[in-house]
Amino acid sequence: MSAIEATALPGATFGGLIHAKDGAAALTAAAETEKRALLACLDKCEGVLLLRGMDGITDAPELLLRLSRLCGSEVESYHETRMARQNVHPEVPQIFMVSNIPPADRAPPPQPDPVRNADGSLPTRFPHRRGWHTDQSYRRPPPDVSLFYCVIPAPEDQAQTLYANGIAAYTGLSDEMKVVVDSLVGIHAKPGVGRGEVAVRAGQTPNELGPGDLPQRQPVVRVHPATGAKALYLCEAGQMDWIDGPFVGMEPGPDGDGAKLLYELMSHYTCPEFVYAHEWQAGDLVIYDNRTSIHAATWFDAGKHQRLMWRTTVSGNPGPEYAGESKSWLAA
Ligand SMILES: [Fe+2]
Repeated sequence: MSAIEATALPGATFGGLIHAKDGAAALTAAAETEKRALLACLDKCEGVLLLRGMDGITDAPELLLRLSRLCGSEVESYHETRMARQNVHPEVPQIFMVSNIPPADRAPPPQPDPVRNADGSLPTRFPHRRGWHTDQSYRRPPPDVSLFYCVIPAPEDQAQTLYANGIAAYTGLSDEMKVVVDSLVGIHAKPGVGRGEVAVRAGQTPNELGPGDLPQRQPVVRVHPATGAKALYLCEAGQMDWIDGPFVGMEPGPDGDGAKLLYELMSHYTCPEFVYAHEWQAGDLVIYDNRTSIHAATWFDAGKHQRLMWRTTVSGNPGPEYAGESKSWLAA
C-alpha cells in the first residue's frame, strides 16, 4: 500500500488527512519514491490535504522544500520578488514566514463583527467573514499550490485557517448561474494598492502601479489541468479591482452590477457546507490547491501570543489558458 493515502478530513465535506506516523523525513522520502502520489492524493481530496505529525520540518526546513518540489516544477524564491526580507526565512528564501514574531511583522486580521454566530460557531461566510482569497491571484500565471506549515501555533480556538472548496461551490451553482460565470473574467488586484473595495469607497487615490503590479484578468471558472474539475476562482473585496472591475464587461465599482454579483458568488462560495476550519497543531502541514480553493485567516491575540507559520508557493501547471505567458510580476 502507498504511504500517500489519505483518510477523510474530520470536520470537513472535502479534504484528506495523512498521519506521518514515522515522522516528516520518512513521509517525505516515501513521497519522493512515488513522485506523482502526493499531487494525485491532493487532487483526489479536492484540493486540501492535511499532513499531521510533520514536526521534523521545524529543524529540517529542507523537508518542506522537498515536498514543495513534488507539487510543481517551480518553488518561488521570495528573494526574487519584493517580499520584505523580515518575512522571508533567513536561510531558505523559498519560505515565507507568516508570523508576528520579530523581525517578521505579519499582524492577524481583525475579528468579524459579531465575533461569533448566534449559535456560538465561528463565522465563515462572506461578508460576515472577510479576507477570503486565493494566493497571488493578482499575478499571471497564478500559482498552483501552497504548502502551509505550523511551527508555533496560537492557542486553541484562535488563528484558524478557513478553506472553501471551489469545486463544490461551482457544482452547487444553478444552471443559469453556471452559464453566467463560465465565460466571466475577474480583475484581481494586489491588496494595499488602493483598488480594493474599502479604499475605493473611502475615495483613496489609487497607487501609481509599475508594470509588474498591474491588476490581472483571470477566468472566474478554472478548469483543473489534471482532473478537469471546474472550480470558482474568485477573491473577495480586498483582492479584486473595484475601479475597473470586479468583472470585465459588467458595471464596475463598489455599487455596480459586478460588485453585486461578486457578493452573491462569494457568499455562496463560503457557505458552511463548502468550508473547513482548520485548528492548527504544531507540526501540521496543509497543502492546498489555489486553483480550486480559497482560504481566509482568522484573528488571534497577537498582543499575548506569538505564532509562526511557514509557507511555500509552487507554480508550473496553471492550465492551457496561461500557456507560454511570461510572469506578469516580473514585467520590466
Ligand atoms: Fe493566503
